[in-house]
Amino acid sequence: MDEVSVRVAAASEVAVRLDAIGGLYQQAFAEPPNVAETPAEHRATLLRLLSDPSFGCALAEVGGELVGFVYGYQLTASGRWWDGLRDPMPQEFTTEWEGRTFAIIDIAVAQPWRRHGIGARLMDTLLCERAEQRATLGMIPGLPAAEFYTATGWDLLSRQDSPPDAGWTSPVFDVYVRELTGTGSR
Ligand SMILES: CC(C)(COP(=O)(O)OP(=O)(O)OC[C@H]1O[C@@H](n2cnc3c(N)ncnc32)[C@H](O)[C@@H]1OP(=O)(O)O)[C@@H](O)C(=O)NCCC(=O)NCCS
Repeated sequence: MDEVSVRVAAASEVAVRLDAIGGLYQQAFAEPPNVAETPAEHRATLLRLLSDPSFGCALAEVGGELVGFVYGYQLTASGRWWDGLRDPMPQEFTTEWEGRTFAIIDIAVAQPWRRHGIGARLMDTLLCERAEQRATLGMIPGLPAAEFYTATGWDLLSRQDSPPDAGWTSPVFDVYVRELTGTGSR
């Protein structure tokens, strides 16, 4: 296998690689039961995330070609991340404060490069850099990614019904959490 480079990328680099990230996103998330935002929606989502100072991203490349990405941002106290959990969590679990939780928004590896450990390296590379106490993500039920998350240290917390007015990509998610070693301040 050619040398795969996996590294954290600054928001400024992500901003100039939107086309490559968008292209890989469309390929990876077009496979049902995944749901892809349209290219315009996804670009707008990325630009919104990029403007958040807590944005974090790692990229995987082979010979300069993008073969994988992961990105996310820190939850805020006013967010709705934990709304609609079928197994409700106590308030002390769902209350957010600065530095508490990093949310993974998207992760993808190009099809020919899957099952070579790149997804795991992407996640570890990004999360090792973070100072938050824990990470979370939402997955559309039924994806093979569930086995990836179980194999890479994530715990399934609960199924979640999306709030009707939230505009999320699926009416239902499985919410995962993973403890980090951060102290909670950035
Ligand atoms: C999920 C995804 C990022 C995983 O990337 P990857 O580089 O293939 O993952 P890794 O090679 O690091 O996998 C690590 C371990 O996870 C498990 N795993 C990963 N993909 C799996 C699959 N499709 N089926 C079963 N187990 C899987 C395995 O235990 C694997 O170790 P092994 O290959 O030694 O058995 C990739 O499949 C992908 O891009 N999927 C499409 C986009 C997507 O669904 N993203 C997540 C949305 S919530």
